[in-house]
Amino acid sequence: MIGLATNTYRFVHILLYFNSNFLSYMFIPDNSARCRSGVPGLDDILGGGFPRGRCILVRGDCGTGKTILGAQFINNGIVQYKEPGVLVLLEQNAAHFKKDMFAFGFDIQSLQESGQLVLIDASLSRVNLEKTSASEAYLHNTPKTPFCVSDVVDYVVAAAKEIGATRVSIDNLPALDNLLKKVETSRDDILYMSGKLRSIGLTSLLLCDNLKTRIDDTENYVSDGVISMEYQYSGPDMGRRLVVQKMRGTKHSEHIHPMKISKGVGIEVFDSGV
Ligand SMILES: Nc1ncnc2c1ncn2[C@@H]1O[C@H](COP(=O)(O)OP(=O)(O)OP(=O)(O)O)[C@@H](O)[C@H]1O
Ligand SMILES: [Mg+2]
Repeated sequence: MIGLATNTYRFVHILLYFNSNFLSYMFIPDNSARCRSGVPGLDDILGGGFPRGRCILVRGDCGTGKTILGAQFINNGIVQYKEPGVLVLLEQNAAHFKKDMFAFGFDIQSLQESGQLVLIDASLSRVNLEKTSASEAYLHNTPKTPFCVSDVVDYVVAAAKEIGATRVSIDNLPALDNLLKKVETSRDDILYMSGKLRSIGLTSLLLCDNLKTRIDDTENYVSDGVISMEYQYSGPDMGRRLVVQKMRGTKHSEHIHPMKISKGVGIEVFDSGV
């Protein structure tokens, strides 16, 4: 009897040992430390989701799906995980953004009305308008009160505290260059923004165009993670692709993954096939 118990104990022990070794090679979801995007296929290649409370840079050429990814992250946070979120638009105005995102099933207006989403429209077309409401803010910009990154960050912090947000998407960083009337976004501004967002524990997606004119890539280094999106126009890898370039503290996929954008769904990421 004792022999049987000892053998069972050994068997369980061996099983646990092999399982723990085997699992360490898999992408293990850790929901407490991970902020799930809910984007089909993405969390699996990120070891369960984005590391919580970190700043993730989403880079890509125009039209590669950055805006959709940011909106999907915020929409899914609310709809699937009951995590309120803040969306900052520095480029596209709120009305166009909402209309475009509705096609994917992201009902930004309803989420605002339910008090779970705050949209901050700081797009160039809006910066001279002064209007705020509970769920939407237009930043004010006049020669007396010029656009300033700390204003945007203050709005985000106040909004996040008010609705209990855990996530934010900022779309898109190079637009700061125009708003600040500088050739390139300064290192200090990016450092200030990312530092402040981390300090209040927000998991942040910073969306960023790959501009050939930009010489400063500070954002790559100050971010805790970098996801790169691209479009291959020819060859066997033709189509949309996504790669996790870096994700601090995470065992993530190092492969290039095909992805798709479709109506009613948004972004889907597929197995690399490797
Ligand atoms: N309803 C739709 N169904 C399928 N694909 C769509 C739909 N609407 C847009 N798309 C695709 O998504 C692309 C735009 O994605 P998105 O706006 O997220 O890109 P982006 O990387 O943010 O671009 P930009 O650099 O211009 O900001 C379009 O160019 C188109 O290919
Ligand atoms: Mg965009």
